[in-house]
Amino acid sequence: MKVTVVGAGAVGASCAEYIAIKNFASEVVLLDIKEGFAEGKAMDLMQTASLNGFDTKITGITNDYSATAGSDVAVITSGIPRKPGMTREELIGINAGIVKTVSSNLIKYSPNVILIVVSNPMDTMTYLVHKTTGLAKNKIIGMGGALDSARFKYRLAEALESPISDVDGMVIGGHSDTGMVPLTGHATRNSIKVSEFLSEERLTQVAEDTKVGGATLTKLLGTSAWYAPGAAVSSMVQAIACDQKKMFPCSAYLEGEYDLSDLCIGVPVILGKDGIEKIVNIPLSDADKAKMQESAVGVKKTNDLLEL
Ligand SMILES: NC(=O)c1ccc[n+]([C@@H]2O[C@H](COP(=O)([O-])OP(=O)(O)OC[C@H]3O[C@@H](n4cnc5c(N)ncnc54)[C@H](O)[C@@H]3O)[C@@H](O)[C@H]2O)c1
Repeated sequence: MKVTVVGAGAVGASCAEYIAIKNFASEVVLLDIKEGFAEGKAMDLMQTASLNGFDTKITGITNDYSATAGSDVAVITSGIPRKPGMTREELIGINAGIVKTVSSNLIKYSPNVILIVVSNPMDTMTYLVHKTTGLAKNKIIGMGGALDSARFKYRLAEALESPISDVDGMVIGGHSDTGMVPLTGHATRNSIKVSEFLSEERLTQVAEDTKVGGATLTKLLGTSAWYAPGAAVSSMVQAIACDQKKMFPCSAYLEGEYDLSDLCIGVPVILGKDGIEKIVNIPLSDADKAKMQESAVGVKKTNDLLEL
């Protein structure tokens, strides 16, 4: 299994590190446009191999896509992150150009690649890749929901005063402060609905804290987060590499599912060797259905800013 990660910045390097530590890929190529940067990150990471016990070979390259040839999966993290006070949508101008160039270069050298899009505004960048590359829709996957769900579980465990491993929950919808739909009604602690333990008011607070999870970290760090995004991507790559048939909420191109069409937005999917092997239709409450529709309006508004 050969994995390419484009962008050797905070998220890209963290993603490469987690993939290596999980030891399921033979090779990770880290590519960046900044001269020597990916080479340096790759060398630093390789010097952790004997300490962290992995055999994955990580190489770094400056903007030479021939080194990515034959990649099974490629992750696109290239682009600018937001600064405190910015929305993800404000990044569209610069990142759209980067994502378009990067995805076409990747496909040129790896025509069968499965692409995972991370750059923000992620749902719109995933849609851009869908509209401009001609790659099959099962091979274009946006990462947002896996991260947002991890943040939801963190907030749920905090409210429940429980270990995170006790809780389960999922966030669907657009990957934005206003578009996320944390499914509080489906969340559980050891198979018991969390509404048995938490007041409606506390659950609403959990949902709100989840939705601004990225903005909270951006304010603290001065730039957007990287550990949890990197871990989320690595779990998705592992599901594909190991054909796990694991369910994640991912940004997928919809053609009628959830009564939505012609956009990429977060819905539960099964990830396996073919990428998105199935979009899972889960029953939603009327309130969540309405939130999903509203979220889609927001995503489409950002999509309209694309020059396709
Ligand atoms: N989807 C999510 O859940 C999620 C989570 C966190 C961050 N992000 C997004 O991921 C992106 C990366 O964030 P980061 O914190 O790693 O930023 P960063 O600035 O640390 O890294 C970005 C890297 O991309 C490189 N780059 C820029 N243009 C390039 C090009 N044309 N080709 C190759 N490399 C190029 C830069 O040199 C830089 O090293 C941002 O858009 C951010 O908003 C998304």
